[in-house]
Amino acid sequence: MAGLMAGFGHYTHAIVRGIPASLAKEALRTNQAEVDLDKARTEHDAYVQVLRTRLGLEVVELPADESLPDCVFVEDAAVVCGDTALITRPGAESRRRETEAMKEALTDLNMNIVEIADENATLDGGDVLFTGREFFVGLSKRTNQRGAEILADAFKDYAVSTVPVLEGLHLKSFCSMGGPGLIVIGSSDPAQKALKIMQQMSDHRYDKLTVPDDLAANCIYMNLPDKGHVLLHCTTDEFPESVKVFEKLKDHMLIPVSNLEKVKLDGALTCCSVLINKKKPDN
Ligand code: GLY
Repeated sequence: MAGLMAGFGHYTHAIVRGIPASLAKEALRTNQAEVDLDKARTEHDAYVQVLRTRLGLEVVELPADESLPDCVFVEDAAVVCGDTALITRPGAESRRRETEAMKEALTDLNMNIVEIADENATLDGGDVLFTGREFFVGLSKRTNQRGAEILADAFKDYAVSTVPVLEGLHLKSFCSMGGPGLIVIGSSDPAQKALKIMQQMSDHRYDKLTVPDDLAANCIYMNLPDKGHVLLHCTTDEFPESVKVFEKLKDHMLIPVSNLEKVKLDGALTCCSVLINKKKPDN
């Protein structure tokens, strides 16, 4: 298992997608928030620039689709681990067709594609936490038991445990990985309960980094050549107290990335990219 953990956070490519004008009025949201389209686009451009220019990832940018208001939240359309890409079946019907462009992009990247044929299954990538050792799958309004079972079939090398998501949209609305073996977790009762379940399910003792704000617990960890441990996290404008916690991570290159507009649509940092470590040469 140590071998499996060795490559944790190594990425070469990212898939992102443009923001359609329909995002502002039609994208799904749990609060009736007004979204400023220009601000959302500027914020997303800055996010993509960090991946491409600051971190040197090869970024595949899918065009926005006006008929898919939530399409910028690409994480929900696929789960990629190693050379395998599981194309999901998003829980929200309005989001199902987002998987088509994602499947094409992952096929072009020479990934082994697995699809969900079972119409009773639902799975959003936002409910999938991969720790490097195992998967935790949130059972939420968007992801069901059958979706988790299909994920377990697709990634047979890893244990898969399910975690009830009692509040928030997805499992990763209040947690993510902050490094190998390090779970970043929000402070709310539902977040802490979910962590407890994950700890009980696992035979590994994870370290934890507790941040005061649940939404701040969604960050992006990478381990990149020449850069080492990298963490994209919330800004001081959003969550000043949580930023103070991240600043204690002395071994990480810390990169604050703004998410003020997309959060109004329940979008977090991980939602806006699918990260890939591509080892197979192109044919
Ligand atoms: N707006 C993201 C979602 O609800 O799926």
